[in-house]
Amino acid sequence: MTTMKKVPAAAPVALWLGGKKALSAHIIEGIEAVEHRAYIEPFIGMGGVFLRRTWKPVLEVANDFNGEITNLFRILQQHYPQLMDVMRFQIASRREFERLRAVDPSTLTDLQRAARFLYLQRQAFGGMRGHLAFMLSCRVLSVFRLQFCIGRLCLTPLEGTPSFWRLKQASGAVGSF
Ligand SMILES: C[S@@+](CC[C@H](N)C(=O)[O-])C[C@H]1O[C@@H](n2cnc3c(N)ncnc32)[C@H](O)[C@@H]1O
Repeated sequence: MTTMKKVPAAAPVALWLGGKKALSAHIIEGIEAVEHRAYIEPFIGMGGVFLRRTWKPVLEVANDFNGEITNLFRILQQHYPQLMDVMRFQIASRREFERLRAVDPSTLTDLQRAARFLYLQRQAFGGMRGHLAFMLSCRVLSVFRLQFCIGRLCLTPLEGTPSFWRLKQASGAVGSF
């Protein structure tokens, strides 16, 4: 594989409904069987497939029309230490979960918004964002898991478009989707 570089697999940022946990190995085997110069992921979610891949082509683009996701990934790319500072004293509590759930994300800074989303996603039962139910978990801040994933995301362009064709145009590449 000449155009591709071996990289360590990273865990997804949090649980996500439809996160391909059971299928990811099979999907990735298919992707990596074909040599490619670009990998464009139109529906990244929490990165269940994107982050678990172990071969990196020249260009990678991640897309999702959910602004909470693209904001979280941008903050992970550019303000990881600051995000850790915001989350350091977060405790797993039902009251905090309900408080953050009631907050309108548009009233927050991007950093606060990313911290809120990560907290809710890490504490929600099964990562079910539509039916957020509190789950007592010590996974509010698993620093190691996030460190691996920022290594994989650091140079990845992030798009937030709902249009497959716009994404293909913006990526300027004929790649694997
Ligand atoms: C099931 S999740 C993706 C799981 C992910 N591929 C993985 O490997 O874990 C589907 C994602 O697609 C996004 N999505 C759905 N329709 C979309 C669209 N038309 N354009 C962009 N993103 C979309 C959702 O916001 C959601 O995050």
